[in-house]
Formats: sequence, C-alpha cells, structure tokens
Amino acid sequence: MTDDPSRSRHARDLAPLRWSVATAAFQIEGARHADGRGRSIWDDFVESPGAVLDGATAEPGPDSWHRWREDIALAAALGVDRYRFSLSWVRVQPEHGRPANRLAIDRYSRMVDVLLEAGVTPFVTLYHWDLPSALEERGGWLDRATSFAFADYVEVVVGALGDRVSDWYTINEPVSTTLQGYAIGELAPARTLLFDALPTVHHQLLAHGLAQQIIRSAGAGRVGIVNNHTAVRSASEGDDDVAAAGVYDLLHNRLFADPVLRGEYPDVSMLGVPDLPVADGDLALISHPSDFYGVNYYNPTRVGAAAPDSPIPFELLPIEGVPTTGFGWPIDPQGLRVVLDQLAARYGDALPPIVIGENGASFPEPDQTSHAIDDAARIDYLARHLDAVDRARADGLDVAEFTVWSLLDNFEWADGFTQRFGLVHVDHRTSVRTPKASYSWLRDRIAAVRGRREAGVGA
Ligand code: BGC
Repeated sequence: MTDDPSRSRHARDLAPLRWSVATAAFQIEGARHADGRGRSIWDDFVESPGAVLDGATAEPGPDSWHRWREDIALAAALGVDRYRFSLSWVRVQPEHGRPANRLAIDRYSRMVDVLLEAGVTPFVTLYHWDLPSALEERGGWLDRATSFAFADYVEVVVGALGDRVSDWYTINEPVSTTLQGYAIGELAPARTLLFDALPTVHHQLLAHGLAQQIIRSAGAGRVGIVNNHTAVRSASEGDDDVAAAGVYDLLHNRLFADPVLRGEYPDVSMLGVPDLPVADGDLALISHPSDFYGVNYYNPTRVGAAAPDSPIPFELLPIEGVPTTGFGWPIDPQGLRVVLDQLAARYGDALPPIVIGENGASFPEPDQTSHAIDDAARIDYLARHLDAVDRARADGLDVAEFTVWSLLDNFEWADGFTQRFGLVHVDHRTSVRTPKASYSWLRDRIAAVRGRREAGVGA
C-alpha cells in the first residue's frame, strides 16, 4: 500500500478479477453481403487497391456471421465470465433514417440468448470502427451530426437487447480513429488531416456521452467507454524530447481521458489548432460518471523531438533491447502498470473501476494447422501482463476485469490476415477453428484461480 489516496482500497476489498475475451464485428463476421448488411468505411477501405497489406477483404475469415455458435462454445469452454463482441452498425441500420434490419437484430438477439444460456455474460461494444459510409460521405466523425446518428442507432440496439444485455462499451478506442483514421490515414476512413482531425475527438466522445445517457435512461445496465492507453517515454532527459513526449501523452492519453474523467479538455493550444467544437452541456454529458473505465493496453511508446521540417511536433521511436511481437511492438508489462498508476494519480476518485478491455499479442504463425499451435510467446506475454494486473490489484488499484484480445485470429485491419492475435487459430480460407496452446493455458489458469477462490485461498 502507498499513502496515495487514490489507492485507498486494499486488494481484500476488491471483487475477484473477472475474465473476458474479445472480438469485433468487422474483424470476425465476414459475410459482408449477407442478410441486408449496409456499407461501412471498412468496406470502402478493403476495396481500395493496395490499402490492405495482403489484399484481404475480411472474407471468409472466421465467418462468425454464420459460425457464431462455435465462438460462444469456445468462450464458454474457456470459462470466461464475459464475451466482448461488437455489433455492426450497418447490419442493424443498413441505411440511415430507414427502418432497422430485423434479420440482424434477431441474429444478435439470439446470440445474446445463447451466451446467457451458456453462462457467459454478453459485453457489447456498440462501436468498433465500422462507421456507415453514408455518414462518412457527410463528414463522418468530423461532423457533429454523426454523434446523433450514433445515438439513433444505440436507441434501436438498446430497445432490442437492453432487456438482456447489462454491460456495454460505447466507443472503442476513439484515439485510433482520430490519429490513425483521420490524421494519418492508416485506418479507415484513410483521411490525412493531421491536426485538422481533432474535431473527431469531440464527436466520438459526445457519441459516448449520448449512448451512456440512453443506456442509463433505459435502465439497461453498466456502461463505459474503452480507450487505448500507452505509457509514453521520453527518448532522453533533454528538454526537447521531454516536451515532445508530453505532447504525445496529451494527444494519445489525456485528450481522451480528461473529458471523460475530469469534464474538461487539456490545453492543446501548443498545437496551434482551433478549439474543439464543444457546445454547452457537452462536457457534462461526456463526463457523466461511468460504471467502469475501459483500458486497452498493448505497448509503451518512446517519443522524441521531431525533425525541424516535420509537420508534427514529435517523433515515435523504436524501443531497443526488449522482445517484440509479430507487429514489432515492444513487449513491456511494466508499461501497463505505468498506465494504471497514471490513471489513478491523474483522476483519483473520479476513476471508476478499470476494465482492461484488450490485451494480447500477434506472433508469426502458419495460415494452416492440423494441431494446437504451441504459442509459448503469447502465453508468456499474457502471463506477464496478468502478473502486472495482479500486482496492481494487490497494491489496491481497482482493476475489475481482464480481457484477452482476441478469442480468434481475425482480420487485423490494414494488415489483413497477416497478424494473428487469437487464442484460437483460424484458417481464413475454410474458417476452421483450432485452439492454440494459449487457449488451454488460459482455461487452466481461470480454473485454477476459481478453484483457489472456492477453496478460500487468495482472491
Ligand atoms: C483494436 C483491435 C485490434 C487490436 C490489435 C486494438 O487497437 O481495438 O481491433 O485488432 O488493437 O491491433
């Protein structure tokens, strides 16, 4: 225990850690033209020549639109408390302003029922990056009207599933949409607006606030946003590097957490950008207390001063001397602890229980397999990050849930099928699922923790 008031709880008081595995609609569903689905910015992206590394279009992939019962069986056999999955906005509302698609709603509704029957709590992500193309044509997240279009879709979903779904993530990683989607164009909608992308921060957070309000007024359970956080390290102690690291921390972490947890935006005037398009009442809505705060964590980020002619005031640098994932991301579980400590220190009592909404790693693995792949590196990655969570809890930080990204190998956005994050291998041509060694490892770990708890030993 430290004497930091934000850590006043002792691990003894914390409920047992909940376990979860995650997926997202566009990454696993495939079947882009089935059952009246509309068109999203990811359809536009995968159909742009050269946009996706291996030219994959997310099909067939896991084909979970058809094989969802297999996914639920895999999650249930793993012993997780919850399954985090996202709904496809363009399946629910193929065309904005037109009636919702009954087929899609019934299918998601069945999925919820089957999860509940299997004893796995459905944890629904309302938005995981697949914006309707028609909205993007009108400005997408640059346009305030998109937040209200989202609210309209959320009303439909909550009306259909809110009697059985009691746990909701509103928006997944708005930072990725802003920085990679609108600022530098690595993800859909592939815009390269640099700092002119910043209005998308506010409109996504406003969408979160509106969705939260809808869920609350419907009495439909617990709700929160899920932000990606990184531990930002300065390349050196030099003033320029430290200042650049501060700017990156502001852009990646604080711009998305401060409004939610503190009701205000940090000062971004050093970027020389116009104020964010905040209207009266927006910040009250955005900062209305959530039931949890979702944190996705993958790796730390090393930042140095930018070259003089750079259009952005920092440079992202490699971290030497540590193992890396298939993506080349540095593996550093201590970075997760730094993120958790920073959140506690920055937001104190305003920070609700933390839910780790994603953590995991890709490693090079074969496209086809006839046996359980021995993914020892993934087991090591997860074990070390889980240890960091256990230690954080032992020190009194309220981390309520740990979610592995991902249950399945899936469509890794601009990297197509080249990066495999799954506990379960998927042959993306046949959609056949084969659990890896990490799947059995996690199943055994969950069972052992539960067994100890039931025997009255440890949390
Ligand atoms: C996203 C996932 C993605 C994962 C690995 C997260 O930022 O939410 O959709 O697959 O990272 O890149």
